[in-house]
Amino acid sequence: MRNAMLIKNGHIIDPSQGIDGIGDILIEDGKIVKMEQKSRRAEEQKKKSPDFRIIDATGLYVIPGLVDMHVHLREPGFEHKETIKTGTLAAVKGGITSVCCMPNTNPVNDNRTVTEFILRKAYDEGSCNVYPIGAITKGQKGEELAEMGMMREEGCVAFSDDGMPVVNGILMRRALEYSKTFNVPIISHCEDISLSEGGSMNEGALSTQLGLRGIPSASEDVMVARDIILAELTGGRLHIAHVSTEGSVRLIRQAKERGVNITAETCPHYFTITEDAVKGYNTNAKVNPPLRTQKDVEAVREGLKDGTIDIIATDHAPHHRDEKLLEFDKAPSGISGFETALSLSLMLVHDGVLTMSRLVEKTALHPARIVGIDKGTLKTGSDADIAITDMNKEFKVEPDKFISKGKNTPFDGWKLKGMPIITICKGKIYDWRS
Ligand code: DOR
Repeated sequence: MRNAMLIKNGHIIDPSQGIDGIGDILIEDGKIVKMEQKSRRAEEQKKKSPDFRIIDATGLYVIPGLVDMHVHLREPGFEHKETIKTGTLAAVKGGITSVCCMPNTNPVNDNRTVTEFILRKAYDEGSCNVYPIGAITKGQKGEELAEMGMMREEGCVAFSDDGMPVVNGILMRRALEYSKTFNVPIISHCEDISLSEGGSMNEGALSTQLGLRGIPSASEDVMVARDIILAELTGGRLHIAHVSTEGSVRLIRQAKERGVNITAETCPHYFTITEDAVKGYNTNAKVNPPLRTQKDVEAVREGLKDGTIDIIATDHAPHHRDEKLLEFDKAPSGISGFETALSLSLMLVHDGVLTMSRLVEKTALHPARIVGIDKGTLKTGSDADIAITDMNKEFKVEPDKFISKGKNTPFDGWKLKGMPIITICKGKIYDWRS
């Protein structure tokens, strides 16, 4: 037996098999070979083969590694912000074992050469599994569709112009039509630029007080409504990225009730903090869409609870410190999310919004299903991508200790409860306690 280990006596949560109970998982050569309720064979095995590793997971959750379907790894082109090497290791630190990376790189991932480059780099230097997302339009310029078929062939699992909306309705319609042919989701960054242009935070009393131009909720809601109508027209596979408003949640809920082919995502910052984080012109709280109001936070939480919002993704958007030191309206938008995402999401469990099983669905199983990859499960035969999680471990967020090059987080100094303490990915064990 080569490279074998047993995770013993953990609380296994695997919604793909309806499992929620104490048990053991046997792993050989990076694959799950057996799961059983309380196996007694571990000690015997250890005696037979001294290399056999036993991880005692008593009192810990053993869950599938997270599948993060919305991340920015910045390579090629913006290596000062992040690289595939640093980003994927930071992901693994956060219990994330698969990431789907957005195409707003330089050059944009709008052709198979860039897709191939990302996959090759990820194979050579990546700590977790990387699945590229191709651009919908060439150069993300919104003028002409990119070569979706070729990128799909090369390995893209979804298409998006994230960071930019697809303003032109006919292009979005065509992309949704192609999504059926290629069986991939179209991930929509919903923003009506004519409403948001020049804005740098949520529009409201606070933006007036701070003297900053606001981005109204309507900027998001209008595009969510348009894309729902186009999804209805085409029957295409629409996925709404980073939902931040009460209005979007309502529109998506109604669309789902009508049977529209739609899924939706939100990010930890949209269910945890409000626009108040921007006070003091804190550029680390500048993100697009912007942080909203308490009413929106509650609507997003309700959307997670009732199933309107299918998944939680990080929208990990690392930026260089110097860029975030610019004046508020000039600084780039984005939050470095990998190393706080699971802890912030566990707050939903602590607060009774989600059960642990529902949380695993939203962070691992559902995203894997949406992008059509065989992940987010602990089924026998699957890759041993696992996050062993301590629900009660408390820690302070210290961006300087992030593995990610992006130290840009509005959660600096927060005390959080619950974190991944061991991640297993691509046959390697990362023990974050040591
Ligand atoms: O805040 C954001 N940052 N939102 C986006 O849509 C893009 C992202 C980035 O690439 O920095």
